[in-house]
Amino acid sequence: MMLRIGMLTSGGDCQALNATMRGVVKGLSNSVDELEVYGFDDGYKGLIYGKYRMLTSRDFSGILTQGGTILGTSRQPFKLMREPDAKGLDKVAAMKQTYYKLCLDCLVILGGNGTQKTANLLREEGLNVIHLPKTIDNDIFGTDMTFGFQSAVNIATDAIDCIHTTASSHGRVFIVEIMGHKVGSLTLHAGVAGGADIILIPEIPYDIKKVVSAINRRSKAGKRFTILAVAEGAISKEDAQLSKKEYKAKLAARAKKYPSVSYEIAAQITEMSGMEVRVTVPGHTQRGGSPCAYDRVLSTRIGAGAAESILDQEYGVMIGIVDGKIKRIPLEECAGKLKMVSPKDQTVKAAKQIGISFGD
Ligand code: F6P
Repeated sequence: MMLRIGMLTSGGDCQALNATMRGVVKGLSNSVDELEVYGFDDGYKGLIYGKYRMLTSRDFSGILTQGGTILGTSRQPFKLMREPDAKGLDKVAAMKQTYYKLCLDCLVILGGNGTQKTANLLREEGLNVIHLPKTIDNDIFGTDMTFGFQSAVNIATDAIDCIHTTASSHGRVFIVEIMGHKVGSLTLHAGVAGGADIILIPEIPYDIKKVVSAINRRSKAGKRFTILAVAEGAISKEDAQLSKKEYKAKLAARAKKYPSVSYEIAAQITEMSGMEVRVTVPGHTQRGGSPCAYDRVLSTRIGAGAAESILDQEYGVMIGIVDGKIKRIPLEECAGKLKMVSPKDQTVKAAKQIGISFGD
């Protein structure tokens, strides 16, 4: 049997992209007589502009532990996919042309929510696609876990751990701002793992007065410091009442004064309590370095699951993990949906039980 697949990584990178591609290619090359793999440069850009290279199984050796992506990536917003590029090129037609020119049996697409929406668009256009869920945000609907998430949790947890020692020496309030875009999964998990005292996530809007009360309660109990794990998308109760347009305007106004939500919260805490506050933003370090052991295993399973789906000629699916088992989830069921943290989540409940404040 001969098989010709295309592969691309799109959107923000994360750990374990290479590990996942390795799983796909090794899984296939052990099952078919001949395998041709075309790797597209920088995500959908490579597919649109016909920028690709043929890869051999050797390219996928020794990359299990390598962070980043050997293919490169770029952000190509889904909402612009149907719009022609600066030179008037029809991007969707161009992607289809590249696919048919190379006579691909299937396109394996690694990426997050936006990437998944474009994968679904290509499915609707008649291409054989398989989506593999990557993101440190763990916000992809239909899978319990995305690869990259656990590695980022480890890094964000390390950041909080390091802050703990300096916070206790100085007796200060510290905020560690954690990525996750509009979702609080990464902050919740790193916050709990790092022993944060206050966790603020977008799904549970905060009341700054409650946040300050929680800090004061700790001070009164003789604790010398307080650590807040704040999601980059954290939102106050008042702001949560605003319309989308009003909130956008609020964010634009805030950006003139503060680099991010944490700095605004820090200023409010200082104003209301007189306490000294420091902000730490680990930023893109959370997407860097080697995948952790958990992600290496997950990626290998997802990659092998993708290989199996290709061999079964079942396309138009995301390879996810549900209740510990690899599952093929139809793209039409998950594309365009965001997986958020439920305020009733068991981890939220446990955190509250042990006294962590969510400022609500
Ligand atoms: O989706 C992954 C992510 O790291 C988010 O957590 C973050 O909001 C965003 O990407 C940052 O994007 P960029 O790398 O384009 O600055």
